This record gives sequence, C-alpha cells and structure tokens, in this order.
Amino acid sequence: NTPKILAFSGSTRTGSLNKQLVKIAANAARNAGAEVTYIDLRDFPLPLYDGDLEEAEGMPENARKLKQMMLEHQGLLIASPEYNSSLSGVLKNMIDWVSRPEANEPPLVAFSDKVAVIMSTSPGGLGGLRGLVHLRSILGNIRVIVLPDQYALPNAFQAFNEDGTLKDIKQQQTVEQIGSKLATVLAKLVA
Ligand code: FNR
Repeated sequence: NTPKILAFSGSTRTGSLNKQLVKIAANAARNAGAEVTYIDLRDFPLPLYDGDLEEAEGMPENARKLKQMMLEHQGLLIASPEYNSSLSGVLKNMIDWVSRPEANEPPLVAFSDKVAVIMSTSPGGLGGLRGLVHLRSILGNIRVIVLPDQYALPNAFQAFNEDGTLKDIKQQQTVEQIGSKLATVLAKLVA
C-alpha cells in the first residue's frame, strides 16, 4: 500500500517561500515511495468562518473538496508562514471550516489519525518557529499525529536557489529528511 500525502502551504502568495519549502519536502517524500498531492490553497478560496453562513448555506464547496482530499490521504505535509507569532489566518480558517462535522460524520473525520509534518520559513532569524508551536498544538488537539521532526528555515529571502532548492546543502538535506521521514513512517502504518 502506497502512502498518500497531501502537501500544501499556509500561504497563497504566488512567490510564497513556504510553497517552495513544502515542495522540497514533497519531492523527497515522493522519492521515498509516497504518492504526494500538492495543492495550492489559493485554488480553494473560503469565506471567513461564520456560524450564520454555515447555518444558511452549509459547508462551502471548497471546504468540502478539501475535506474529501484529506480523507483520501493519510499524511499531511504543511509549511505555514508565521504571522505575528502564529500560523497564517488562511490556514487557521481552512482548518476551522474543514473541522466542522456534516450530517452523520464522526467528529474531526478529516483530521483524526492523520500523520503530519510541519515546517515554516520566514525572513527572520527564527524562521517562523513560534508559529509552529501554535500549529502543532492546534493539530494535536484535533487528533492529528504531528511528528516530532519539524523545521523552521530562517533568512528565507536569501536561502533559496532559482530552481527552488536550498543554497545550504545541510538545510536542503534536513528538509528532504523530514519529507522522507513522513513517507517512511506512513509506509509502516498503512502496511
Ligand atoms: C509577517 N512575517 C513574519 N515573519 C516572522 O518571522 N514572524 C512574524 O511574526 C511575522 N509576522 C508577519 C505578519 C504578517 C501579517 C505578514 C504579512 C508577514 C513575515 C513573513 O514571514 C513573510 O512575509 C513570509 O515571506 C511569508 O511567507 P510566504 O508567503 O513567503 O510563504
């Protein structure tokens, strides 16, 4: 059984450095035998969560699509920017919508028992590490198994080559190892 991983960035920006980062780990996970689906949250725009809207119109179509994709994958590979010491609003809003139960679904059906690896990058010296603390906590609370391996890549504006790889070979290897780790852990679980 080939493990399936859904990879995405918490930033929708075209030039997002977190998109570049997650793609490095996604490639490594692919090389380690996983099937990786990379998605851009820009392609799944969502309104800000609003209980009245949910009551009137139900779950937005894009939230339902994201939920379905999560159900079809066992692993999550996420790189989120740090905004004011936390995860991005785009990512939090997505989590909030997708976490809502529909019809007779069990609670948190899209998140329960997923295995996740989280990463971040930022132009600062901490690389978004403070945001990862929040993201880890949130995912853990909604029953995602977040692997201890994580990476916050600092000085993001200087870190990448034109081709999307990292200039520093050790950093490149660290990100690749994190991606392949998710693939190998999942391979044991789906065996
Ligand atoms: C930031 N940025 C930022 N960086 C950081 O290291 N710590 C922080 O707390 C914040 N806060 C913050 C708030 C807001 C509203 C914005 C827009 C930005 C900078 C951020 O890391 C930078 O813009 C990254 O390039 C965003 O990631 P992407 O879009 O390149 O993936």
